[in-house]
Amino acid sequence: MKLSRQTRREFCTQACQAVALATIGSALQGCGAGAGLTSPSSAAALSRVSGTVASGVISLTIDASSPLASVGSAALVQTSSGLFLVARTGQDTFSALTATCTHEACTITGYESQTYVCPCHGSRFDPSGHVLNGPAVTALRSYTTRFANGVLTIAL
Ligand code: FES
Repeated sequence: MKLSRQTRREFCTQACQAVALATIGSALQGCGAGAGLTSPSSAAALSRVSGTVASGVISLTIDASSPLASVGSAALVQTSSGLFLVARTGQDTFSALTATCTHEACTITGYESQTYVCPCHGSRFDPSGHVLNGPAVTALRSYTTRFANGVLTIAL
């Protein structure tokens, strides 16, 4: 089929726009993490649970249906005092950390292989808050925990 002059011009314009959009899309994907930073991973999102705050202590009931029911699990705990990363490190032991990344203050929401993963630039932290991979260089602040009668308390 032979295209008219007008139709060819329209075809070229549309083709050029398509190429330009594809190029912009690739560029955006490539620079999303910023120069020199590791790219975010596809770590699973942490389950979210709510905790209550009273007198500087977060309380959270952990029963068989809790995302924190099994050893090795972790959750993002939402409270009126902010967000916290809680991991069950043993049958009766837990770790609690701030969920605010020490790199550029994103909320850490990913978790894989017992490692917290920041969605912004891919920093990784162990359940004690130590940096496993940057760009973050500072550990996450940790809080004292206590577990008794199915209730976890976190002292702020
Ligand atoms: S804010 Fe950059 S890695 Fe978390």
